[in-house]
Amino acid sequence: MKLENEKHGDAALPGAEDYPALDEAFLACDKQLIRRTRNIQLIPEARFRRGGKLSYAEWAHVIGIFQTLIYMHLDDRQNSLILDVGCGTGLLAVASQPFLGENGKYVGIDVSAEYIEFCRAHYSSSEFEFMHLETDNAYYSPGEGDSRLGWSIESNTVDLTLALSVWTHFNEDDATFYLKEINRVLKPGGKAIVSFFLLDDLYRTSVSTRSGQTGKFHTMPQNRWIFDQPSYGSTRCFHPSWADVPEQAIGLTREGLDFITDASGLKLIEQHNGSWKEVPGIFFQDVMVFQKEH
Ligand SMILES: C[S@@+](CC[C@H](N)C(=O)[O-])C[C@H]1O[C@@H](n2cnc3c(N)ncnc32)[C@H](O)[C@@H]1O
Repeated sequence: MKLENEKHGDAALPGAEDYPALDEAFLACDKQLIRRTRNIQLIPEARFRRGGKLSYAEWAHVIGIFQTLIYMHLDDRQNSLILDVGCGTGLLAVASQPFLGENGKYVGIDVSAEYIEFCRAHYSSSEFEFMHLETDNAYYSPGEGDSRLGWSIESNTVDLTLALSVWTHFNEDDATFYLKEINRVLKPGGKAIVSFFLLDDLYRTSVSTRSGQTGKFHTMPQNRWIFDQPSYGSTRCFHPSWADVPEQAIGLTREGLDFITDASGLKLIEQHNGSWKEVPGIFFQDVMVFQKEH
């Protein structure tokens, strides 16, 4: 199986052309040598690794970060329902796997039918379920289905919702609508871990000191992450000037985050600043933890 709708231009990265063949050989060997971390045996080959992260090491690293966050925010680490919005090719399915226990379940949702088809074949055990959401995202699924579809998930049933690098592809209306969906499906007291590009004071300070050089904590040019174009005329959502459509990368102001949080009914309980703002962080993007009222 081959995924056709490559969206991240990974093939254009230096070294990426020969990497899939090297990776295929490496993975077969590496999987046999893994001793202490069974779930990373599920990491797929390079040609199936998406979410803007091609490297095996980076997948394993990000899985570790989110596995830790999941551990910290799940009350029942054996029997929970974990929902992954914008699951891509399943990075957070791998991070969630140790917490599915006897009666736990992971549900991944994505607008890409190809990603869902891949996930169903690759993460084939019954603890995993994948749903295709036939709806429009101007970058990932332009013109497909209706805009903003509710999820076929019962209200008040989900223990933990995850969304890695997904609200960073939502315009203001999508960001508001789907955060409300998170609040609807979470159990009272349930939590959500969602990543953003938060355009706060730290961001504004960092912009004035950035050059075109590689970031201190990442390998992209520092000035790639400058969100100076209002997305669809919004005063809360901005995208970089290089984006073909705003949904390629969208940042949210502090006021915007407060607005969508209030509209959703969720409470923001934790903020971890991301290293994209040229500060040390647990992850590249900003990570927010929300909680539904008890
Ligand atoms: C940058 S990728 C992140 C994928 C995955 N979370 C990861 O980190 O590897 C963004 C994902 O969000 C999905 N997506 C975009 N709009 C969506 C929507 N409205 N509902 C569900 N998924 C969506 C895309 O198809 C894509 O797989």
